[in-house]
Amino acid sequence: MDNYPILKTTRLVLRKFLYEEACIVKELAGSEEVAHGCINIPHPYMPGLAEIWIASHEIWYSEGSQVVFAVTRKEDGWIIGAVGLTLEPEHARAELGYWIGFPFWNHGYATEAAEAVITYAFDELLLHRITASHFVRNLASGRVLEKLGMKKEGLLREHLLKDGIREDVIIRGILRSDGRSFSEEIRANYSGERT
Ligand SMILES: CC(C)(COP(=O)(O)OP(=O)(O)OC[C@H]1O[C@@H](n2cnc3c(N)ncnc32)[C@H](O)[C@@H]1OP(=O)(O)O)[C@@H](O)C(=O)NCCC(=O)NCCS
Repeated sequence: MDNYPILKTTRLVLRKFLYEEACIVKELAGSEEVAHGCINIPHPYMPGLAEIWIASHEIWYSEGSQVVFAVTRKEDGWIIGAVGLTLEPEHARAELGYWIGFPFWNHGYATEAAEAVITYAFDELLLHRITASHFVRNLASGRVLEKLGMKKEGLLREHLLKDGIREDVIIRGILRSDGRSFSEEIRANYSGERT
């Protein structure tokens, strides 16, 4: 699909996944570290799952239910993760989700990618509200969302069952009217450049 959006930041290009990149998704998303933080990534990662997931992206985009981006680095073109929105257009709302491959953690990539997607959601999709949730134990994800100005709105006790364990979940949200209080560092990293 030629009209699939492409977002650019200082260090990243966010674009659609290609079918032949399924092996990279399997390797990165299939790691124990990444799967441990996400409700919807199984471990071990099943053969064929990445192919099915990538094949769904254009369908989801065309029906307006989700937009999923590969997070790639400008410097070498490597895929380092994924970020996306699950859309609820009737409420002008979306749920933000992301993962970054374990070798690439703690370089600010998730924050930079998610910030571009939030900007896209507010400025281009004209959404009113974006939510995100994370396991209470997932301090890194909580910190990413905090840096993005996503306010803690609630604690959902034993909300999800992950690998047989009931997990407490924090839900965070940001409204268009919150004025996107991104840090100066994040703001400096986002050029808003589009192709
Ligand atoms: C959560 C995740 C996406 C973060 O990606 P990332 O690219 O490393 O994130 P960033 O570098 O932008 O920011 C991470 C922040 O968390 C902080 N952090 C990392 N580990 C932490 C920990 N154990 N406790 C507290 N803070 C922590 C980092 O110091 C950094 O904050 P800082 O910039 O103030 O120093 C990544 O760890 C991941 O993919 N985890 C598995 C999947 C997942 O949890 N997805 C989200 C589901 S809700």
